[in-house]
Amino acid sequence: HEEFTKVKNIATIELGRYEIETWYFSPFPPEYNDCLNLYFCEFCLTFMKRKQQLQRHMKKCDLKHPPGDEIYRSGTLSMFEVDGKKNKVYGQNLCYLAKLFLDHKTLYYDVDLFLFYVLCECDDRGCHMVGYFSKEKHSEESYNLACILTLPPYQRKGYGKFLIAFSYELSKKEGKVGTPERPLSDLGLLSYRGYWTRVLLDILKKHKGNISIKELSDMTAIRAEDILATLQALELIQYRKGQHVICADPKVLDRHLKAAGRGGLEVDVSKLIWTPYK
Ligand code: COA
Ligand code: NA
Repeated sequence: HEEFTKVKNIATIELGRYEIETWYFSPFPPEYNDCLNLYFCEFCLTFMKRKQQLQRHMKKCDLKHPPGDEIYRSGTLSMFEVDGKKNKVYGQNLCYLAKLFLDHKTLYYDVDLFLFYVLCECDDRGCHMVGYFSKEKHSEESYNLACILTLPPYQRKGYGKFLIAFSYELSKKEGKVGTPERPLSDLGLLSYRGYWTRVLLDILKKHKGNISIKELSDMTAIRAEDILATLQALELIQYRKGQHVICADPKVLDRHLKAAGRGGLEVDVSKLIWTPYK
């Protein structure tokens, strides 16, 4: 529907030490219609039209990390949980920013209903956002992730798979299975397929004897349909007497594992201090 595709408005943003070219339209308030460049405070995500405004802002902004609770720290990586209800403006600014890199997500939902998990690389100047994912506080459809973004300067380094792995660690702590909200973008789907493939192959490789999709789902918090689709794509499923059977020949597993690429950054669950949202 070409006639409904909004023309990209903002061409570049400045965020921390990066100038980033944008990918898509984002519905910033009308007073920003005439802007090609936007300047973001990398900590509170306030956006401004001029660099001088940002410089003045940085002198008085006392945040050095995202608002909310630090729920994970391992080495220089930290994850912050931000409640959209308690930090509404931050949540809205994060959505405006994210939409610049997301094609078909609508932004008109209420940030109150979401938690934002903001991943940062920390140094002596503060915690610098690398990417994030959002999650509904209560999902009827058992979604454990709504939007996911790795900022372009940080892409292809394994952070996407880290964010995905993190979303499943939260689901495990909740004792639930989860799945990402659809539709997924091409890059989103590639990242999920890579994550699912690696997690499932690792288990199948170590496991002795038969294992069911239900057992795999219980171990990984990955929804049964996603497991089935992943194993089907790898041609590891046969249909016998009305049942799906996993056929995991070690040689075939090794071949798939090699093709599955890098494992990405590991989530160290012992460093996750978190209780599910009530
Ligand atoms: N070209 C080809 N494959 C790519 C790719 C690219 N530009 N970017 C990611 N992939 C695939 C690769 O298989 C990669 O694994 P590999 O590097 O081991 O081969 C895998 O996806 C994940 O890579 P990773 O480095 O962990 O992910 P990332 O930090 O680059 O983040 C996204 C992935 C999807 C979060 C990121 O591309 C993004 O923010 N995209 C824009 C927003 C978006 O589309 N979000 C999903 C909406 S549902
Ligand atoms: Na998308």
